Amino acid sequence: MNKCVLVTGGAGYIGSHTVVEMTESGYEPIIVDNLVNASEESLKRVEKITGKKPTFYKADLRDRAALEKIFRKHDIGAVIHFAGLKAVGESVQMPLEYYDNNIGGTLVLLEVMRAANVKKLIFSSSATVYGDPERLPIDEECSLSTTNPYGSTKLFIEYILKDLYKSDSTWNITLLRYFNPVGAHPSGLIGEDPKGIPNNLTPYIAKVAAGKLECINVFGNDYPTPDGTGVRDYIHVLDLAHGHLLALEKVTDAGVHIYNLGTGKGYSVLDMIHAFEKACGKKLPYKICPRRAGDIATCYAKADKAEKELGFTAVHGIDEMCDSMWKWQSMNPDGYGKK
Ligand code: NAD
Ligand code: WQD
Repeated sequence: MNKCVLVTGGAGYIGSHTVVEMTESGYEPIIVDNLVNASEESLKRVEKITGKKPTFYKADLRDRAALEKIFRKHDIGAVIHFAGLKAVGESVQMPLEYYDNNIGGTLVLLEVMRAANVKKLIFSSSATVYGDPERLPIDEECSLSTTNPYGSTKLFIEYILKDLYKSDSTWNITLLRYFNPVGAHPSGLIGEDPKGIPNNLTPYIAKVAAGKLECINVFGNDYPTPDGTGVRDYIHVLDLAHGHLLALEKVTDAGVHIYNLGTGKGYSVLDMIHAFEKACGKKLPYKICPRRAGDIATCYAKADKAEKELGFTAVHGIDEMCDSMWKWQSMNPDGYGKK
């Protein structure tokens, strides 16, 4: 198999961890990222970990000429498509920017791939496409719906990819629906570096543990869950990264292949706070607040399709998730620095 793989959004959180895993497994990742939510420093750190300088192009996916040039220069065999904007709240404020960036960027990428006759794609979808899930655990056949513009961009891109395959059955497309990615590389050199005050639970907990924020706000304790707080399927970013390699290698037939990437286990907000307390060795202040609009009570995956067909199992548990996040936070109190 051609080991030269274009990685869009490869300077970002999940992308950078996947680039490490790819490099260590003999792939040649070619990264394209406009750095709207990343820093080139992440790629310097990738080089520190792997000993190899990744090939990087600073370009926007909507810049067709730049993409065409990259496809002419490299003999690309497949594309892993991470690039996109991902903040749910921001997407409600700026829907047009989200549709333009996520859907517009994907359309240009697909057109350039088609022209270059590169028809293998792995797309970062999300458990958000299950909306308020119709059953638990969530399997790939559950009905699809969305509750915000970000989620809608993911669902529309899934529809676009299904239509593309219908029109040309030589495409080999994998939709990976991630549950809640957390954790960091065990070196502490790369990790999640959100802009401003984090929206997601675990980076927020890490900032409270580091003394950069005062107190964790627990959004609701009256959900129908064991302790009343929201339950999610947190998956270590290293497991996610590995899932992409399995999709590259195991999905050899044309088609649209859909997999949940989760652990199949749910943890509550309080479970995560207590696990983080263990990792950082101190009590963390938290207070119960009203529910956050749009949140669901419980979300966890039925993970056996990916296990059966890709040989995927999440091997990193909650303690490794929290230990690695704490190491990343402690070694990089200001993340990668200026973005
Ligand atoms: P991230 O923001 O760290 O990475 C996305 C990268 O894409 C960033 O480096 C950003 O600079 C780049 N980018 C955005 N728009 C671009 C454009 N038009 N052209 C070129 N580069 C562009 O996010 P992440 O957490 O690593 O997520 C990666 C993918 O996985 C995203 O598509 C996201 O929607 C999806 N996803 C993330 C989560 C999560 O909770 N982190 C969950 C499910 C799905
Ligand atoms: C987890 C739990 C909150 C923050 C989001 C996106 C989803 C996906 C992953 C991309 C919930 C609670 C949170 C806080 C809290 N992204 N919480 N205090 O909402 O499951 O998923 O990220 O595709 O699309 O919606 O993740 O980390 O924000 O929340 O109590 O300060 O923590 O209510 O129960 P979520 P999250």
